[in-house]
Amino acid sequence: MKDLGAETVSLTLNGAPVTCAPLAGERLSASLRERLGAREVKVGCDAGDCGACTVLLDGAAVCACLAATHQAAGARVETAAGLATDPVGARLMAAFLAAGAVQCGMCTPGMVAAGVALLRAVPDPSEQQVRDGLAGVLCRCTGYGRIVAAVMGVGGTVADGDVGRAAARVDGAAKVTGAERFGDDVAPPGALVVRVVRSPHAHARFNFGDVGGWANGLTILTAADVPGLNAFGVIPGFIDQPVFAETHVRFRGEAVAAVVGAPDRMAALDLSGFPVTWNPLPPLTTPDDALSGAPLHPDRGDNVMCRGLVQRGDADAALAGAAVTVELTIQTAFVEHAYIEPEAGFAEMVEGRLHVHACTQAPGMDREGLAAILDWPLDRIRIVPTAVGGGFGAKLDLSVQPYLALAAIKTGLPCRIAYSRTESMQSTTNRHPALITVRAGVGHDGRLAAMTFDGTFNTGAYASWGPTVANRVPVHGSGPYLVPDYRARSQAIYTHNPPAGAFRGFGVPQAAVAQEQVWDLLADRLGMDPLAFRRLNVLRDGQPTVCGQVFDSGVGIGACLAALQGPWDRERAAAVAANVQGGPVRIGVGVAAGWYGCGNTSLPNPSSIRAGVTTDGRVVLHQGAVDIGQGANTVIAQIFAGSLGVPLSAVTLLGADTDITPDAGKTSASRQTFVTGNAALRAGQALRAALSRLTNAASDAPLTLDAGRLTAMGGRPLDLSRLPGAPYAVEVTQTYDPPTRPLDQNGQGAPYAQFGYAAQLAVVAVDMDLGTVKVLRMVAAHDVGRAINPLLVQGQVEGGIAQGLGMALMEEYVPGRTENLHDYLIPTIGDVPQVDTIIVEVPDPHGPFGAKGLGEHTLIPTAPAILNAIRHATGVTVTHLPATPARLAALIRAQHG
Ligand code: FES
Repeated sequence: MKDLGAETVSLTLNGAPVTCAPLAGERLSASLRERLGAREVKVGCDAGDCGACTVLLDGAAVCACLAATHQAAGARVETAAGLATDPVGARLMAAFLAAGAVQCGMCTPGMVAAGVALLRAVPDPSEQQVRDGLAGVLCRCTGYGRIVAAVMGVGGTVADGDVGRAAARVDGAAKVTGAERFGDDVAPPGALVVRVVRSPHAHARFNFGDVGGWANGLTILTAADVPGLNAFGVIPGFIDQPVFAETHVRFRGEAVAAVVGAPDRMAALDLSGFPVTWNPLPPLTTPDDALSGAPLHPDRGDNVMCRGLVQRGDADAALAGAAVTVELTIQTAFVEHAYIEPEAGFAEMVEGRLHVHACTQAPGMDREGLAAILDWPLDRIRIVPTAVGGGFGAKLDLSVQPYLALAAIKTGLPCRIAYSRTESMQSTTNRHPALITVRAGVGHDGRLAAMTFDGTFNTGAYASWGPTVANRVPVHGSGPYLVPDYRARSQAIYTHNPPAGAFRGFGVPQAAVAQEQVWDLLADRLGMDPLAFRRLNVLRDGQPTVCGQVFDSGVGIGACLAALQGPWDRERAAAVAANVQGGPVRIGVGVAAGWYGCGNTSLPNPSSIRAGVTTDGRVVLHQGAVDIGQGANTVIAQIFAGSLGVPLSAVTLLGADTDITPDAGKTSASRQTFVTGNAALRAGQALRAALSRLTNAASDAPLTLDAGRLTAMGGRPLDLSRLPGAPYAVEVTQTYDPPTRPLDQNGQGAPYAQFGYAAQLAVVAVDMDLGTVKVLRMVAAHDVGRAINPLLVQGQVEGGIAQGLGMALMEEYVPGRTENLHDYLIPTIGDVPQVDTIIVEVPDPHGPFGAKGLGEHTLIPTAPAILNAIRHATGVTVTHLPATPARLAALIRAQHG
């Protein structure tokens, strides 16, 4: 059966006999995708680490990237697409949708395949059997809880989608079968392949050799091929990363050239022979090095990229007068986004215009960035986002797009690119490592008097979102508490590392690690219960934030902390009871809170939504907010349908495409439900008003659209087909921009129209000898204002907690050492505990139906809650993240001997 010498390979794919002719040693995943059209097989690492490409091979779940196609000759291969018609597979897919087990969908076909293999063998598995059975597949979005529930058949109910109901994702069906098309799934057959030549050094000068001689018919791209600005970035004034370095590289993984050629030739190409000579130079890898070293960017003068400041009152004087003060310094690590989909896409020229299809969080910004690089007008560029297999902030920046664009223009042919896992980790952004010192003081009554915060952020070689981090952190450094006297300073420092950028929280999670641990230290000194300390000091309606902003209503952090009181009392009592038993394992219970301003900081931040009713009676929503797995497609459609007064199922959704959807801004900063949701709310209201006028019906009259006929209770029926206009009989476009006020030189102003709030409780078991930590339970209370879709809220909370757990305990990106998913650890299905989500709804006056943003809030309290729980269990304060077993064991030994 295993005829390794055969030129062609025959096998059975989803019940049908197929034959292909793979290259020698070709991966089964590659053959299935590229030769047999099975693009439902997703590839995340090509190393057997992520499991996204899991298929059933003669009934057994295997990573298709680890099997050679020739070894599969004669075998029976089943993929998610085929499993959709299998009784067990179809039932499991329905359960995934009902339980909310799907977010971005990149891992889902592999999860489904692994789940079917388990359920065929064990029809009624225990939770542990599910965790074991799915252990080979990583998910970066869901936190696994909904997936476990789905495989165990514990699905939720699915309503049609009224606001407040747990509607299934509108794009869920395509994700469970693998029909969803991600960045590497959209290129036409035969598209040329682009590969990027990158620096193996953190700092070097270089020069090219005989590139023309080496090319031998391949197309080569270098800086000389960039017609416009050889730079990209995201913040005006900080556009500083070259598309191609010209003579000098500043981080390991920086691009210097690209090679374009036919697929089979590029698959066999060894890029290590590319003619470039490197002259390595000493790198400045830490902010300390950089602050005393030569400038990375001589035009900037020194290596301080930017600074941030918020101050209110006189923090130094207030600290001097405080009854108790505490100071703590913490160090965090580079954290890699590790979405399961590496960056990918394709581009082509269509009638003189450039079309770019790629995974992105920011199509409008991509178009502007490419226009500058190409020196083209915006209207010659069309951005069509593919499905996004996780983003978490890194896909806000340009990555593959410039190389695709330049290749498509130079060759005149469709060109595609897919970053390898290592390339993705080396060359795209990470979370900023931070060195933070917090000093805080309280009165004898336990009330916070003052706080100072000094944070230094390692921003890597280029700016990316570093300025946003430096500005946002001082605004949030106090946490959601009343701090009368406050001074927070931040600085972002250039170093010879990959650029640090946006990652779920823009620096706020690092700040919370310091501030929330200081709160526990203060409570200890006062002899107060940590939760009581927080509830005493919490920010309330009518009280000023550290920026002097006052919210008359909607401040929900008190309600979040109150919701934890019962679980806190029970878990703390249980921990005491468990620990009196003795033994090496000690139980700890910790708490932390967080807040996050939704949208841009004191900057215009508009979203627009277009909608219409066609002459044949269909309601169409042009929704340009990119859904990166968080559920924007569903939630914004629910808001629109709710305000128009039709069921969600009546809405036809047209997704992001710069040719057909107005700009809904970028998917970041927890802004889409709030900002684009408000635009959708207005669009629904405007469309309803227009329809009501046409029928002479009351503005709140129930509407019925049926076969091109509009009827409204109390009004006259209307034949839409008789109205002029194509394709819409009635059409509206509405825009919303949150009301904010600029910050002054002391950071005083109104940076956000709304904040969202969160408080989380962690229960951990720590092995005092080994330093290992097992998170046993998380309870998460989140104020979302109004849960537009509770199922998606639960998914966001569980997924954010998983990422916070990774940040606390295991994730540390080290260039050159942890550039893949077996050396860089993210939480597996075995690491993430039970999460109990408590939805708190304190309406926000600016939110659509009262809703607040949620995405970043879910992660911010997690790491400090876990670290406070470790301290409760062990008595040691973790100051260096992640709290790996080696680090924690050393701390415990130092403290306890
Ligand atoms: Fe699992 Fe996104 S849903 S990786």
